[in-house]
Amino acid sequence: MRWMTTAGKCLLALGVVLAGCVPAHRPGAHSADADRGPLTLATAGDLTGYLGSVLGDWNRDHPDEQITLVQLPDSADETHAQMVTDLRRAEHSRFDVLNIDVAWTSEFAAAGWLRPLERDRFPLKSFLQPVVDTATYGNRLYAVPYVTNAGLLLYRKDILAKEGVSPPHTWAELEEAAKTIAPKYGLGGYAGQFLPYEGLTVNAAEAVYSAGGSILGDEGRRVTVNSAAARQGIGFLARGVRQGWIPRAALTYKEEESKQAFQDGRLLFLRNWPYAFASASAPGSAVAGKVGVLPLPGLDGPGRSVLGGSDLAVSAHARHPDTAARLIAYLTSEAVQRQVLTRGALPPVRAALYEDPDLVKKFPYLPILRSSVLHAAPRPKSPRYDQVSLVVQAAVQDALTGHQTPEAAVRRLSRELDAVSTH
Ligand code: GLC
Repeated sequence: MRWMTTAGKCLLALGVVLAGCVPAHRPGAHSADADRGPLTLATAGDLTGYLGSVLGDWNRDHPDEQITLVQLPDSADETHAQMVTDLRRAEHSRFDVLNIDVAWTSEFAAAGWLRPLERDRFPLKSFLQPVVDTATYGNRLYAVPYVTNAGLLLYRKDILAKEGVSPPHTWAELEEAAKTIAPKYGLGGYAGQFLPYEGLTVNAAEAVYSAGGSILGDEGRRVTVNSAAARQGIGFLARGVRQGWIPRAALTYKEEESKQAFQDGRLLFLRNWPYAFASASAPGSAVAGKVGVLPLPGLDGPGRSVLGGSDLAVSAHARHPDTAARLIAYLTSEAVQRQVLTRGALPPVRAALYEDPDLVKKFPYLPILRSSVLHAAPRPKSPRYDQVSLVVQAAVQDALTGHQTPEAAVRRLSRELDAVSTH
């Protein structure tokens, strides 16, 4: 569905209305019970095009509680901006249920934009535990985990095998192969998501964590980034660009562009979320059957991912809160969570699915993914996380483009984060 125009998506949506085709918000219920009725569900781009069928099933069974899907842009930051604009319109907002990035729960909850939820209505105990924490703020539940995520390293196993080289567990191993092997095959060495947006914050944070460092402590109240580890982490990425084993084009990559580069056979290594592995391994990909997957490498051994994913939240002004809660229970049911993986190629939040023998057979990376999620670093629960991220993006971009040394970029980052956390 990625290649389709919005108009094309609208036509194909089988009863589900997508971006640009959203009816104006009409307050008031159409059903006898005011708490139940039609809703909109706003989400970042559905990159694997599976949500239409999941919501189609719901809509068939709930004629008086139809869900209209509103697809916002693929980029986390653009979706964030559109959601914030809408939520600020309070009772005039269009979005009832929101599929929010795990990074935004605190900001949205602190602003009073979300309706607190009753824990008993959702199967929280069946979820991987670190993901539940992304949905709370000040001990209250403001959202329900829906999809989790962890960064993984994709690599060309055909090429490494031909060269008799083992897949890398450390940066030194990755760097060596990216420098010496990739050029022999006309490939770029390594890429991640290095355009300045939330993806760059994630990649930079992973580099810092994977050298043993941190950026903030005490949920964003303490700045801890001024360390040798942070300089090594940012230095690793900056060196890659300077030496050319990270292609300059990667400075413009978000998830999709980087996935495409790997899938077209233009890269030896790629950091991305698991959906990219599914896509690169699918029939039609130039590298199908040639892709291996590993935990992210780090300075002295395996590295550490940032915890990604999204949670389902209900707007403080949602038209029909009971339908909203029932929709969330449906989307987090075992049956739909299975489809999240099998049709959406996204990591489900239900723990048992990671040990389901049929699924492990079909998705052999599930055990690696599970342990990457369990060891991942959550983003700080700061209501000012959006500003934290902007500061990280700007400083790291300057280090990657060579405008500042990694040392100067880390010093500046520390100063600017201090200003964000104390104002
Ligand atoms: C993915 C992750 C999300 C992260 C974003 C960054 O969508 O699930 O948590 O913020 O990528 O681009």
